[in-house]
Amino acid sequence: MSDVDSLIGQLQSLEQQALEAVGAASDPAALEAVRIEFLGRKEGRISGVLRGLGSMSAEERPRVGAEANRVKEVLESSLEARIEALNAQVSTGASGVDLTLPGRGQWRGGLHPISQVMDEIWQVFQAMGFSRARGPEVESEWYNFEALNTPLDHPAADEQDTLYLRDGFLLRSHTSPVQVRTMQAHAPPIRVLAPGWVYRRDTYDATHTPAFAQIEGLVIDEGVSFIDLRATLAEFARRFWGPGTRVRFRPSFFPFTEPSVEVDVKRTLTGPDGEERETDWLEIMGAGMVDPAVLEAAGLDSERYTGFAFGMGPGRIAMLRYGVDDLRTFFDNDMRFLARYQDD
Ligand code: DAH
Repeated sequence: MSDVDSLIGQLQSLEQQALEAVGAASDPAALEAVRIEFLGRKEGRISGVLRGLGSMSAEERPRVGAEANRVKEVLESSLEARIEALNAQVSTGASGVDLTLPGRGQWRGGLHPISQVMDEIWQVFQAMGFSRARGPEVESEWYNFEALNTPLDHPAADEQDTLYLRDGFLLRSHTSPVQVRTMQAHAPPIRVLAPGWVYRRDTYDATHTPAFAQIEGLVIDEGVSFIDLRATLAEFARRFWGPGTRVRFRPSFFPFTEPSVEVDVKRTLTGPDGEERETDWLEIMGAGMVDPAVLEAAGLDSERYTGFAFGMGPGRIAMLRYGVDDLRTFFDNDMRFLARYQDD
C-alpha cells in the first residue's frame, strides 16, 4: 500500500470515529470537545494526519488534501446538524424529555378494606356516645381468660387454640380482656368500643387467619338491661347496613356473659333491576349481659352495676359487604384487588 493510500485510509477511519463521537454527544459541551479533538488546528487528529504530507511528492499531495477537505466538511456539517437537534430537544423539555408523552399512573395510598370497615363501625358507635378503648396484644392468662370467667382448663384456653408466650403470657385470642382493663381503669358509666388485632392458632384458609381483627364493645352503668343491649345493637345494624335491616337475637353461650346471644341481620338489597330482595340471616356478632363474676373480677360491685358486651369480626363483615368469599384475598396484598376498595 502506498503512503498516499495509507493516509487516505487513516483519514477515513478518523471520519468514522468522529461521526460516532458526534452521535454519542448529548450536549453542546460534548460536541465542542469532539470538534476540538478531530478538527482542532494544532492538536486535532486530522491535522496530525496531514503532517505526513510533507514527505510526499507534488503529484501525491492534492489527492490527500482533497480527501482531508471532504472529511472536514462532512464533520462540520454533522456537528452543525447535531447542535440543531440538541437545541430542538432543549426547547421541548430539559435533557430530551418528551413533554407530549402521556403521564405514568401513580399508586395512591389508601385504607385497607378491613380498616375502612373498622372505621365505619367506630363512627356509628362514636355517634351513639361511645369512646375508644385499647389494650395490649401481649396479654396475661388472667385478663384473657380467668377474669372473663373462663377457667384455664376451658377448651378456649387450650394450647391447640391459643398462642402462648412464656410466664403466663400469651397473644390475646380476643379483644374481651379490654373489658376488664377498662372497668379497672374507669368508674361507670362506661360506654367504650375497643377495635384491635387478635391471634389464634388457626390454619390459614378461606375463613381463618392466625391474626384477625375484632371489635369489642362494653356498656356498664346502674340499671342497664337486656332492652338496652337489643336497642343499641339493632340501632347499630340499621345505621351500618341501612334502615330496612332486620335484626335477630339467638340464645347462645359465652363464659363472660349471661344470658348470651348471637346477633343476626337480614338485609334488604336493591338489585340492578330495581327489585328489592332480602338476604339470608347473616351472623354478625356475639353479645350478652356481662356476667357478675366478670364485674367482680374487675373490681365492680355487681349488686350495683349491670351492663352488656359485644364482639364482632370486621373481617367477616368486610367479606359480607364486598361479596368476598375467601378471607385470604384481604391478606395476599395483591394491589389489583386492594386498589378496588380505595375510597375516593
Ligand atoms: N370474645 C368472643 C370471641 O372472640 C366474642 C364475644 C362474644 C365478645 C360475646 C363479647 C361477647 O363481648 O359479649 O369469640
